[in-house]
Amino acid sequence: MNSFIEKVDFFKGNSVESIVKEYGTPLYVYNEDILRDRMHNVSQIITKYEFHSNYSIKANTNFTILKTALSEGLYADAMSTGEMMMLLKAGFPAEKIFFVSNNVGADELQFAIDNNIMVSLDSLSQLELFGSLNKGGKCAVRINPGVGAGHHEKVVTAGKKTKFAVAEEDIDKIFEIADKYDLKIAGINQHVGSLFMDPEPFLQAVKNFLRIAKKFENLEFIDFGGGYGIPYHKLDDEQDFPMESFKAEFEKLIDEFVAEYGYAPLFKTEPGRYCVAESCVLLGRVHSTKQNSGVKYVGTDVGMNVLVRPSMYDSWHDIEIIRDDKVVSRDNLVEQTVTGNICESGDLLAKNRMLPESKVGDIAAVLDAGAYGYAMCSSYNSRPRPAEVMICSDGSVKLIRRRETFDDLFRLFEV
Ligand SMILES: Cc1ncc(COP(=O)(O)O)c(C=O)c1O
Repeated sequence: MNSFIEKVDFFKGNSVESIVKEYGTPLYVYNEDILRDRMHNVSQIITKYEFHSNYSIKANTNFTILKTALSEGLYADAMSTGEMMMLLKAGFPAEKIFFVSNNVGADELQFAIDNNIMVSLDSLSQLELFGSLNKGGKCAVRINPGVGAGHHEKVVTAGKKTKFAVAEEDIDKIFEIADKYDLKIAGINQHVGSLFMDPEPFLQAVKNFLRIAKKFENLEFIDFGGGYGIPYHKLDDEQDFPMESFKAEFEKLIDEFVAEYGYAPLFKTEPGRYCVAESCVLLGRVHSTKQNSGVKYVGTDVGMNVLVRPSMYDSWHDIEIIRDDKVVSRDNLVEQTVTGNICESGDLLAKNRMLPESKVGDIAAVLDAGAYGYAMCSSYNSRPRPAEVMICSDGSVKLIRRRETFDDLFRLFEV
């Protein structure tokens, strides 16, 4: 593909130069149509049984995005008190929120209990803690299905090498603790890892998880977790996650389970990245170019404080170059290393990448930046966090988070 931005008319006819003139760079720009399309897709993964798709808001907690998820019929996963509060503020009723906790203190569990939010406990000791706070209550337990999947070892969250979940061999202990505190184990959940393009390991985990589920009586819900991938190499024609064939395989496994279990509990999934990643292009300005020991460096204002994924996970984001408001053709490519403006040698957006030859003043448009982009931003090097705008379905451009100011950096101090 020569240009994703042109193919989908990402900016809906708006001038990129006018947008950055008004809102500055770096700038996260979302496209409402793409966002709604992906959110709709995940709401339809299972249609034969009662099914909830919980948007995993750790991927992106912008209020406008949360409200869009609500309007698309999604439920939501929270990982912290802050995320539960964001969801409540965005208008999610407590019954649409699932708190997938990990190593939390009594205060976080108490917040969920006080607000009638369903909690998943991630270890036997956390189940004990929950039981002591909420005798006779209801909760879920996160189980390790024994199989992991993901794009990097740092995002594989099941299998043998992970801090997450309770192992299958400890299930009897779950029942003992539940008896002790008169707890109802209403549901079980898993999350095997993030960003798989091949559904096979996930389906394998589902199969194993459903075998384990039969050890629990009277389950109200079974939650399979998230992790559905998106094509980060779309300019090289990487294909989309095969949602249609995946759905058919997934449903077959659920059919078999329901036949044996005797009824269908509510089924859930927890996609984060799939909902938001492709709906966002991050715009940065090229401020310098130079040649160091034979490497051509392109210096932008998209530092690791703005998008940390490439530095943290060696993640790939396609980059398009915009000059004079037009996407530069990819017919002639030159090897370049795109960096940010942070004082770290690991501050690399793209290493040895074939791109149109960049010039000072160009705009670097970083694709697929909507998931774990702004959510992982920091003000490292005392750089205020960027703004976010939405290209709405009617073509209008709306500011959905203002840029941080220097005063915002000082606000926690007495200065
Ligand atoms: C428990 C849990 N659920 C859901 C997700 C969402 O994963 P993804 O954004 O890959 O769909 C994560 C992400 O790590 C997670 O930890």
